[in-house]
Amino acid sequence: MSTLSFLKQVVRANRSTGAIAPSGKQLAEVLTDMAGVSEAKVIVEYGPGTGVFTEAILAKKQLDAYFLALEVNDQFAEITRERFPEAHVVHDCAQNAHVYLKEAGFSGCDTIVSGLPWTLFDDALQNEILEATYNVLEPGGKFVTFAYAMSPYIPSGRKFFREKMVERFGAVGRSKHIWKNLPPCVVFIAEK
Ligand SMILES: C[S@@+](CC[C@H](N)C(=O)[O-])C[C@H]1O[C@@H](n2cnc3c(N)ncnc32)[C@H](O)[C@@H]1O
Repeated sequence: MSTLSFLKQVVRANRSTGAIAPSGKQLAEVLTDMAGVSEAKVIVEYGPGTGVFTEAILAKKQLDAYFLALEVNDQFAEITRERFPEAHVVHDCAQNAHVYLKEAGFSGCDTIVSGLPWTLFDDALQNEILEATYNVLEPGGKFVTFAYAMSPYIPSGRKFFREKMVERFGAVGRSKHIWKNLPPCVVFIAEK
């Protein structure tokens, strides 16, 4: 069901979806472990799509941790909200996370789990979201995001993962390749 829903959005909104299928569970596990979801008090997810990472976050987070997900596609937002009524899913851009955190009484977040298709974004949008990401993280906060294995070889991907993330955060770590995903991918992590 969620693969079919995903495919419909690939056709309808291919410039913001940036994938051919929902991510696999193994990627969701690695991403949420690296993000330290089980220790975080305030968690933000960017671009939940049909909710693969959302499900892993909900399974690992502490009961009293606050969890906000931002999804730019109205239909994906609706699907994830329906699948996970306990998640706070808003239909808005990732760069506005600070607005909703402030409304909920938080000055920032401890970790960000990103499902965004950075390689599809132009230079200005990459810069805008990266800057907002850095600003919304508390000191010591983690930013965890994934790239398809070929992304660092595409100019916009190389620039984002190999240059901009390093320039903004100082150092960037990465996982081994996750082969059990379509397409295979790598997780990148940076700390404020
Ligand atoms: C590659 S899909 C990943 C979906 C899901 N996390 C997964 O891994 O299966 C990218 C998601 O990011 C969303 N998205 C794109 N730009 C966004 C933005 N500026 N703010 C929030 N979500 C965005 C898309 O609508 C889509 O749901």
